[in-house]
Amino acid sequence: SGLDAARLVASRVLDVPDFPKPGVVFKDLMPLFADGAAFREVVDRIIAYHGPESFDAVVGMEARGFVVAAAIAYATGVGVVPVRKAGKLPRAVHSASYELEYGEATLEVHQDAFTAGHRVLVVDDVLATGGTAAATLELVERAGGTVAGFTVLLELGFLGGRERLAPRPVHALLTV
Ligand code: PRP
Repeated sequence: SGLDAARLVASRVLDVPDFPKPGVVFKDLMPLFADGAAFREVVDRIIAYHGPESFDAVVGMEARGFVVAAAIAYATGVGVVPVRKAGKLPRAVHSASYELEYGEATLEVHQDAFTAGHRVLVVDDVLATGGTAAATLELVERAGGTVAGFTVLLELGFLGGRERLAPRPVHALLTV
């Protein structure tokens, strides 16, 4: 059930104070990824929530989103499309930039990543301010895809990512 998935995530996330800089508490989901039964359960929960027939491709954001996206794609028999940080993709790209606390970040996707009308499930490990997700959802649409859903394992509710993405729905296995 949803409650069980939330408990599973809660029990396998480590809070790391002062990473990557002082004052930030980093949410480390590596223990969840490293636990085979727990990882399979959360992947299966995400697929069940959206429905295995509801998407034609899965997008994950560099780098931890790749882990979740690849597992969902393999389990459902669809392809995985990486959204990467600037300068990593070799062919023509769409780019989207967003503000960070200091400076800005840019994400990219190949222009030919999707067939027109492809229904795309977007997944990441953590939703914080929502900058990464907002840029990714924009990139999916600019590349011709249709966003079929967006799921994260862990939502940091106090950072306002969900509000930033509204009215797009956000599905989180656990919100803190
Ligand atoms: C983290 C996380 C999300 C993003 C969430 O990735 O995996 O992708 O930050 O933050 P936001 O909602 O404020 O945009 P990070 O940029 O640390 O990249 P990494 O996975 O390559 O370490």
